[in-house]
Amino acid sequence: MESIIRSSVEHFEVLNSHTNHIDIVVVGLTITTLIALICYGIVGRRGLKLPPGPVPTFLVGNMNDIPVYEEWHTFTAWTKRFGEIIYLRVFGTKMLILGSYRVANELLNKRGIIYSDRPPTPPMMDMAGFGDSLTVMGNNADYRLRRRLFEQHFRYSVIHRHQPTQIRETHKLLRKYLESPASWLDDTKYTVGAIILDIVYGYRVTSDRDEWVEVGERAGTNFQLSVKPGAWAVDFLPVLRYVPTWFPFTGWKAFALDSTRRRKIQVDGAFEMVKKAMREDRANPSMVLHYLEQNKNGADIPEKAIMEMASDAYGGGVETTLSSIYGFFLQMTKNPHIQLKAQTELDRVCLDRLPTFDDRKNLPYIEAIAMEVGRWHPGVPQGIAHRLEKDDEFEGIFLPKGSMIIPNIWGMCHDEDTYESPNVFNPDRFMAHTGDGISMSKSNPDPRQMIFGFGRRQCPGRPFAESQLFFTMAVILKVFNILPPLDAQGREIIQPDAYRSGIVSLPKPFDCRIVPRSNAAVNLIRQTD
Ligand code: HEM
Repeated sequence: MESIIRSSVEHFEVLNSHTNHIDIVVVGLTITTLIALICYGIVGRRGLKLPPGPVPTFLVGNMNDIPVYEEWHTFTAWTKRFGEIIYLRVFGTKMLILGSYRVANELLNKRGIIYSDRPPTPPMMDMAGFGDSLTVMGNNADYRLRRRLFEQHFRYSVIHRHQPTQIRETHKLLRKYLESPASWLDDTKYTVGAIILDIVYGYRVTSDRDEWVEVGERAGTNFQLSVKPGAWAVDFLPVLRYVPTWFPFTGWKAFALDSTRRRKIQVDGAFEMVKKAMREDRANPSMVLHYLEQNKNGADIPEKAIMEMASDAYGGGVETTLSSIYGFFLQMTKNPHIQLKAQTELDRVCLDRLPTFDDRKNLPYIEAIAMEVGRWHPGVPQGIAHRLEKDDEFEGIFLPKGSMIIPNIWGMCHDEDTYESPNVFNPDRFMAHTGDGISMSKSNPDPRQMIFGFGRRQCPGRPFAESQLFFTMAVILKVFNILPPLDAQGREIIQPDAYRSGIVSLPKPFDCRIVPRSNAAVNLIRQTD
């Protein structure tokens, strides 16, 4: 580099023989600075190289390289081209895309102490009322308190407490499928919402289209909209948030205000409902009641923490779980042989009864289907960004402090080096050769290590989600066949594998026929009432 600077300085001397000594020093320093800046894009602070990636353009960096929809496909293609860690820059924000489970495990899991922060909340998300959500909070004391309280209610050793609710609502869903199979999409959604509302607030949904489920769904939609990268000018020009609402072209401010109002109803309203029921001595057991009672007995948990954490259980739990249940239906319409194999297992283990949670260890093929559904299309395909708190180094590569870390979960689940024929839906990849056990072989790692995220930020709802997905899939397959819809000539219509883009990605609405397997199956369903 020294020779480049020297020759540049000499060049200037030739060009202008009248240039005095001070000018030469100034010019030299300027060139040095420019070269240093250019080189910083390639070489990091410790003299190590930054990871490779697409060449950034002036000022905006890689903004135009990142697609607005289904970014995970582009990230996967980049991993093949550049390697397991990709470096991007969007304006001043540094980004690292992790393209393999190997690096995600090495960095986010093993070095979790410096990889557990979140990037600053984008202005629009904050304005739309989601700035205090546990999911986006930085790694501070308040976050750690909320996370601890959350885990106490959803860790493996306690989730059996939620089973009565899960059984009651899932059995109710079977009856709905029997009575009105055409409304299966909505009925499934309201059921998942009802289960979480009961566990978190002790609220029992009585109507088919409950208003609290709708409030939660609307908040979820607003969350997705507010976090959409590149959608809001205010995210690039934060000063815009101070533009008054009467100013022309400020429709986005109206969205933010409306979202904040609805979020307040969701967070405060549901919480006040529990407090009122508690005062009137009619509150059902729930996560919120548990912590309010602890406070009554002398604990000092801030109410704000309890109410916001409770709404996070709803926000984090409903759409993600639905993504897997809808994905399961989609795959069953396309793979009758897999469905039949699962039903053979179910009939062997629970001949004339519905499956229970205790059957889980004896139903490895159902478990394998749940794993394959998650691998096929992870509910959160590119995870939720972490933030690196200190400069780091990995295998001779420099990883700068403050980088936004994006684990490309979809890409990891479709990595040919990890999963053979990743674009084939095949639960058998997780079965041991004996056919009666789940394989955890190195060549087919459990995708749940990826689809629930990483390190200290790994999804705290994982134990509950796993149990709910197993139970839902088991009871449905025991009593129903899930078939593709028919056209006017009675031919089967193959449903497209189309998914919605976004932080949480669900299959786009599709049709299927839900048909009881037999009269005995109908009786089993009716007996649940
Ligand atoms: C199949 C279902 C689910 C999937 C695929 C899923 C996936 C994820 C992922 C990828 C993350 C980000 C982890 C990271 O930052 O590395 C996450 C975070 C989170 N999930 Fe889930 N999740 C599911 C179900 C649930 C359920 C049922 C709940 C609540 C009961 C829940 C609550 C949360 C919360 C609160 C966070 C934020 C954690 C934090 O930032 O510390 N999730 N989830």
